[in-house]
Amino acid sequence: MRVVKVALGSRSYAIQIGNGLLGELGKQCARLGLGKRCAIISDRNVAPKYGGAARRALAKAGFEAVLIRVPAGETAKRLSTVQRCYDELAAHRLERKSFIIALGGGVVGDLAGFVAATYLRGVAFVQVPTTLLAQVDSSVGGKVGINLKAGKNLVGAFYQPRLVLCDLDTLATLPAREFRAGLAEVIKYGIIYDRALFQRLERDLSKLLKRDPATLTAVIARCCEIKAEVVGQDETESGLRAILNFGHTIGHALEATSGYGRYLHGEAIAIGQVAAAHLSARLLDLPASEVGRIHELFRRASLPTKLELSSSERAKLLSAITLDKKVSNGEVRFVLAKKIGQVEYGRRIPGGLLQEFLSRWQ
Ligand SMILES: NC(=O)c1ccc[n+]([C@@H]2O[C@H](COP(=O)([O-])OP(=O)(O)OC[C@H]3O[C@@H](n4cnc5c(N)ncnc54)[C@H](O)[C@@H]3O)[C@@H](O)[C@H]2O)c1
Ligand SMILES: [Zn+2]
Repeated sequence: MRVVKVALGSRSYAIQIGNGLLGELGKQCARLGLGKRCAIISDRNVAPKYGGAARRALAKAGFEAVLIRVPAGETAKRLSTVQRCYDELAAHRLERKSFIIALGGGVVGDLAGFVAATYLRGVAFVQVPTTLLAQVDSSVGGKVGINLKAGKNLVGAFYQPRLVLCDLDTLATLPAREFRAGLAEVIKYGIIYDRALFQRLERDLSKLLKRDPATLTAVIARCCEIKAEVVGQDETESGLRAILNFGHTIGHALEATSGYGRYLHGEAIAIGQVAAAHLSARLLDLPASEVGRIHELFRRASLPTKLELSSSERAKLLSAITLDKKVSNGEVRFVLAKKIGQVEYGRRIPGGLLQEFLSRWQ
């Protein structure tokens, strides 16, 4: 088992990574000094697989846990689901010292975290991420929230968990496509922060795809360390934290314009990262050989690397990019790579240049 610490003063917490951790959930929660009553929020795919084990582990340590099931998928991240959770928490008389456990992928983590941040003006919460994406990314760092019709993650808070338990055994049931989508975030950490991690991924990709436990533990722990370091320096994204958005400007726009559902988030940001690598070659002298390595690693992970768009789809994509939260005065801010392992954030790119780039890069 590996432990990674997120250092945020009085709000610091540990991320535990290893096998068999779900069985330890009660014991680990007992160390946090919380009340006896808690709620597990999980979705309809994850609850039947792991809800029982989570409840038993909590009961063994003397906790009374209620299991709240929400629908699976991005559409669950909405205000009406939050409302239902509040009602169930109140019905089960959760009080200020009670706590909430998010058991599931990033959808459940963002939703349950938002519920925890707001119910009774905030109760403690614990993340038990069960997708690769949630283990390396969404469960760490304290961004919680829900979607509006107008866009993703438009309502939310910064609210840190008290503990993150990444049980690698839960990844055994994760569909292959979801697993590969998580790898897109893993590769991102190599590009933005750690050349040695990127090299390791080039070397060990086939072991990772086979979900080899030792490789998974080491790689997930490294990703969590990087996220912890970045968040520890810039919790609320006033600067450095923006590097985590590498590939996300184009990726988010692609998700929005292709109709949510065509691409998984990880797939859209795989394309976004390859595009950002090409842009980096033009604007920051990222060597062509490194663009090639980035492209190749995504390809080997069976992730998409090309934009296949008609000219009208491309126009929609461009307008979605310039509508993004991070745009000011018609200039889009990008995270670009200088070399594998090192990026710059806040690079302004005029709309015209982006249009020309997108029309040529296919
Ligand atoms: N808060 C953050 O910092 C942050 C960062 C990145 C992404 N996100 C959010 O995360 C969400 C995406 O998360 P995700 O990719 O984990 O998607 P997800 O939560 O929808 O999970 C993907 C699918 O896998 C199923 N599943 C989960 N764990 C499983 C398991 N162990 N076995 C079998 N099936 C399982 C789920 O039911 C779902 O159908 C998005 O809403 C995104 O906005 C948040
Ligand atoms: Zn992402």
